Amino acid sequence: MIENIEQEKLKNEELISRINQLKVQKNAVLLAHYYQVPEIQDIADYVGDSLGLSQKAASSKANLIVFAGVHFMAETAKILSPQTKVVLPDLEAGCSLADSCPREDFDVFKSKYPDHIVISYINCSADIKTLSDVICTSGNAVQIVESFPKDQKIIFAPDKNLGGYINRITGRNMVLWDGTCEVHDVLSTEAIVNLKLDNPDAKLIAHPECKATVLELADFVGSTTAMLNFTKKDNAKRYIVATETGILHQMRKVSPEKEFLIVPTDETCACNDCPYMKLNTLEKLYLCLKNEQPEITLSEEVIRQAEVSIRRMLDISKKLNLIK
Ligand code: 13P
Ligand code: SF4
Repeated sequence: MIENIEQEKLKNEELISRINQLKVQKNAVLLAHYYQVPEIQDIADYVGDSLGLSQKAASSKANLIVFAGVHFMAETAKILSPQTKVVLPDLEAGCSLADSCPREDFDVFKSKYPDHIVISYINCSADIKTLSDVICTSGNAVQIVESFPKDQKIIFAPDKNLGGYINRITGRNMVLWDGTCEVHDVLSTEAIVNLKLDNPDAKLIAHPECKATVLELADFVGSTTAMLNFTKKDNAKRYIVATETGILHQMRKVSPEKEFLIVPTDETCACNDCPYMKLNTLEKLYLCLKNEQPEITLSEEVIRQAEVSIRRMLDISKKLNLIK
């Protein structure tokens, strides 16, 4: 057993050293989402939420972007940096939320509301981005929606939990596409209530992809970066974290004196691990950097159309000082 752990450690050290060499040789940048395994987060040039990652991709001067995240994130990087080769360690790293909104079905849905604009959460395919007027992330969704007049009719896709949350706090009545994230939507309200009862001093922080019943109980709701920043600045000592487990790595690094509790799931699954995010491993990362495969490719037409809605989001976010 100990021998196995040692061997694994040596293998990881070797992979990390090769990844670092290849990064320099190829002038590659490694962008990682907070839900990646800790060893990938630790060697990334930048770790962040969807908003931060899209900004990094837009300003990248690298010859190669290695995206340690899921498919829609790597597609967004390609749209914002079309001249750059973008690779993803595992092409199967998708997203249940993005998959819940196929282009053909969304086209039909959209045609029922001809006087509505479309605001789409960044967790959607490039195709859906081409059908959207503006994109948002969980880091700017409320402000993007509020940047439109109160009487503006809006379709919000694909996450009904995030859309419902925005409707509640802004008093709007956006039409919602019926999609959810399979990780956040199953976090159990009952398990959270029990955890709160057992740990009355712990604050509940939640990602807005969680169900309304969970969000109503939360002391703080925000994107992964916002949750991380909250735990940094807030004075509580313990937190119940209602999101994917990967973020705990940064929370523990930034506030080693604090305790972070994950929401228990049943014995049959590690339901609060995103199965798509966790497909990426150090080994796949090394191979993808070495072989520059699998590559993200999109037609020029899709890039041109999808870029408009993403750039609009970045412009609004800059104007509102949400990003630099
Ligand atoms: P963030 O934008 O908060 O990082 O969320 C991305 C995501 O996929 C959440 O499930
Ligand atoms: Fe998609 Fe949910 Fe995984 Fe985020 S956590 S990538 S929304 S399936």
